[in-house]
Amino acid sequence: MEKGFTVWFTGLPCSGKSTLAQMLKDELVKRGFKVEVLDGDVVRQHISRGLGYSKEDRDENIRRIYHVAYLLQRNGIVVITAAISPYREIRQEARELLKDFVEVYVKCPVEVCMKRDVKGMYKKALKGEIKNFTGIDDPYEEPLNPEVVCETDKETPEESLQKILRKLEELGYIEPQVYSEEEEEIIKKRLEDLGYI
Ligand code: ADX
Repeated sequence: MEKGFTVWFTGLPCSGKSTLAQMLKDELVKRGFKVEVLDGDVVRQHISRGLGYSKEDRDENIRRIYHVAYLLQRNGIVVITAAISPYREIRQEARELLKDFVEVYVKCPVEVCMKRDVKGMYKKALKGEIKNFTGIDDPYEEPLNPEVVCETDKETPEESLQKILRKLEELGYIEPQVYSEEEEEIIKKRLEDLGYI
């Protein structure tokens, strides 16, 4: 069985967590891993339905996420989480439980996140229609020692993805890819033509 591990994305709303989580998932699936994404927005529709955004509720949300991650990871599945997870202490708890834990800080200035405002929530928060919105009137505690920092206002999504992949290789969770996908295709086709595979 493959060894499971967890890639834990953390960052402000609209920093790019879900985008990178999905890209990483697609890449790891291509490489033959079994992958599950636990996205905050989705988790909050089922296993965390009814939870709010107080520190207690956010911590409870994260506890549920890391528990599910634990169950999946021990069955050889690669888990990718994408929740704001604003509190350092609970992220540390996740790290200690999961052990094979790669923290990716999706770093982006709040002004840039505000401009992206995918769901219009920053606008509402600024108008006071949503209270305790992370980055506006609720805290976000930056990771002190994340394995990877992706600066999504400065890098392309592809560059951020490559940073994460390099770190996963360096840590021994994935094999370095010697050939690009296109090269791999050409080689495969050639070997097929020659009747080797
Ligand atoms: S966490 O803080 O508990 O990790 P999580 O990532 O699950 O947050 O959920 C964040 C999502 O909830 C945001 O993408 C946004 O759509 C929604 N949301 C609603 N209210 C808030 C709020 N006050 N602060 C942050 N996100 C909120």
